[in-house]
Amino acid sequence: MRSATRRWKAVVTACLAPVLALMASPAPLTAQEATGTIRADTPGPVYSRRIFTQFAEHLGYGIYGGLYVGEDSPIPNVNGFRSDVIGALRELRVPVLRWPGGCFADEYNWREGIGPKADRPVKINTHWGGVEEPNAVGTHEFFELARQLGAEAFISGNVGNGTPRESAEWVEYITSPAGSLAQMRAENGREEPWTLEFFGIGNELWGCGGNMRAEYAADVTRRFSTFIKAPAGTKITKIAAGANSGDTEWTRVFMDVARDHIDGLSLHYYSIAGGWPPSISATDFAEEGWAHQLSATWQMDRLLAEHTAVMDEYDPEKRVFLAVDEWGAWYAPDPGTNPGFLQQGNTLRDAVLAGINLNIFARYADRVRLTAIAQMVNVLQAMVITDGPQMVRTPTFHVFAMYVPFQDGTVLPLDLNTPDYTFGPYTMPAVSAAAVRGTDGHVYVALTNGDPNRAIPVSLSLAGVTAHSVSGQVLTGDAVNARNSFADPDAVAPAPFGGARLAEGRLEVTMPAKSVVMLKLD
Ligand code: AHR
Repeated sequence: MRSATRRWKAVVTACLAPVLALMASPAPLTAQEATGTIRADTPGPVYSRRIFTQFAEHLGYGIYGGLYVGEDSPIPNVNGFRSDVIGALRELRVPVLRWPGGCFADEYNWREGIGPKADRPVKINTHWGGVEEPNAVGTHEFFELARQLGAEAFISGNVGNGTPRESAEWVEYITSPAGSLAQMRAENGREEPWTLEFFGIGNELWGCGGNMRAEYAADVTRRFSTFIKAPAGTKITKIAAGANSGDTEWTRVFMDVARDHIDGLSLHYYSIAGGWPPSISATDFAEEGWAHQLSATWQMDRLLAEHTAVMDEYDPEKRVFLAVDEWGAWYAPDPGTNPGFLQQGNTLRDAVLAGINLNIFARYADRVRLTAIAQMVNVLQAMVITDGPQMVRTPTFHVFAMYVPFQDGTVLPLDLNTPDYTFGPYTMPAVSAAAVRGTDGHVYVALTNGDPNRAIPVSLSLAGVTAHSVSGQVLTGDAVNARNSFADPDAVAPAPFGGARLAEGRLEVTMPAKSVVMLKLD
């Protein structure tokens, strides 16, 4: 047994994995129980709805084809954005949309994406496939997309090869009620200023954003931040480009040097079994691939413990939030696709991976107040996948839909003792869990079982909860790589869950193997 609050150490021995996997011992017949307490009597921080932020980059079919097809397309659309995709995404109550990248943002010139479309320059997307970027989706179209989704705007500025003046003028163009940039905006069809909630001061400044050293990047961040000015009476939340996975030194330098100039500091961590470059298949795998990938995603727990500890040293008041604004599974590109388009199938493994991360975020919700899975449509761990006029919801989509009641709920601390799941060299907690009191007053409990072979009994005592009944949904499938296709779009879809009951002040759940469960207590 292990305590999920204890620092978790993954044993990842990539080269030995296939050999050891063959030697894995058969699963015991009886599964150990997971136990814990939901402490509704000592409620924690808010589980910010912004933890469900989505990210849409000019990358492959992430924007063009996936979201934007143009007004003249035979695919039904509103102002160029396809109605099927927007309709599905609205089910997720997308709180915030991050755009235009990613690495794309590091060399984006906002002036090329405004004005008559026919006059906009066609550029080469040098980061992603070397394909033509028509600039048909620019600032006005982004705000139209955010409007259709009902999402707040999060724009990543170009610190990579841009100037502070360009960023400042972009922000002025978007937000100013007066002046010649506001006049230009009006001439381009938008009289009223937009509301810009978040501005990212660059992206991955340690890599595609300029290959900077932390000390230099922190100074550059101070400089750019100086010129990002919100009109009187408004606020733009500034998010600095943070660390790459385990680089806590980057976090330390930024907190030391730049913390007074920022509101949030980002962290990017992708679950990449076997490390960079992504090499394992998104869809063609058995238990070894399942365990390897989930063990990589459990690293998020350790990373958040480490980065938040550094932030606590400099900011015990937790004013600066940690924005994990890129996370998710990254696999080898699907065979036959452009490797620069980052297209990957999405399976039950990704659903469980998403649930594990969303549960981990609850434990750090006092500091982690925004996260963005990468990416929303057709790229990496997407919510929906399209092909021409077809669209399918992925297993990950369904997890995000199941977690909607978590948005702005109050975290109820949950100490969980769970058995391990072990396969070959990979050992990790079998069960993950999180609980909130939703904004509707009900208690919601989210659980994952990463063991693909065994159902696991879970027994949670309820401190400070008065409940008479429990209902819920389960997401599972007939194989570790079960997935949805255009021909079979509901192969992995939520179903009513009858495996939970309340008894003598306890919540008793039988977690099916390889599943995500969301429960509502009445
Ligand atoms: O999400 C794909 C890429 O991953 C982003 O463009 C970049 O920020 C990260 O390296």
